[in-house]
Amino acid sequence: DRKIKIAPSILSADFANFGQEIRAIEAQGADWVHVDVMDGHFVPNLTFGPQAVKAFRPHVKTVMDVHLMIAPVDPYIDAYADAGADVLTAHIEAGPHIHRTLQAIRAAGMKAGVALNPGTPAEAVAHLLDLTDLVCVMTVNPGFGGQKFIDMTAKIRSLRSMIGDRPVHIEIDGGVDPATAPLVAEAGADVLVAGSAVFKGGSVNAPEVYGENIRKI
Ligand code: DX5
Ligand code: ZN
Repeated sequence: DRKIKIAPSILSADFANFGQEIRAIEAQGADWVHVDVMDGHFVPNLTFGPQAVKAFRPHVKTVMDVHLMIAPVDPYIDAYADAGADVLTAHIEAGPHIHRTLQAIRAAGMKAGVALNPGTPAEAVAHLLDLTDLVCVMTVNPGFGGQKFIDMTAKIRSLRSMIGDRPVHIEIDGGVDPATAPLVAEAGADVLVAGSAVFKGGSVNAPEVYGENIRKI
């Protein structure tokens, strides 16, 4: 029995109140906190960088799961280690040397994740599974919260069988809600990122809504 973890994405939080938002989702049952870093180049949207992530760190009591949607990655690995990332995930599409990138993330003391865009096959990670702690399967094209779920259950099933008994998480990112969560969990995912489905209807003044949303997922 795999325990499913919920990782709310603070991309859907109030950007003027990150500290309070992080404390609210953790108090309401979040297992991890998912931090979406976008550079306006690898993806067509821009969020925050290592200095902001470092400011989030003292508010995160669980696991700070940092998803880099940036290219290149390698020049910034030490900055995210210094910022206190527990898991640092890079996209396989972000550069020619993902193998080197994953080695560098581990060498900097973090868990190493590799993310796959919807168009990238499961087989792309076949030679990376001993270098990675997490495979993130994107179920939207990255860049924005609130997009429609793209069914990647066949990819998730392939990954689960390729991973075998290695201690590698399968994380799903994009369009996860109470309707899609059971599909990806059944296919073999164990970490579910959710932005809009966690934050909708709630606020730091009505945090119990976050808890209800998490329980529905
Ligand atoms: C997509 C991001 C996701 C996304 C999730 O670019 O990596 O973390 O914001 O948001 P929802 O759950 O709203 O699809
Ligand atoms: Zn993400």
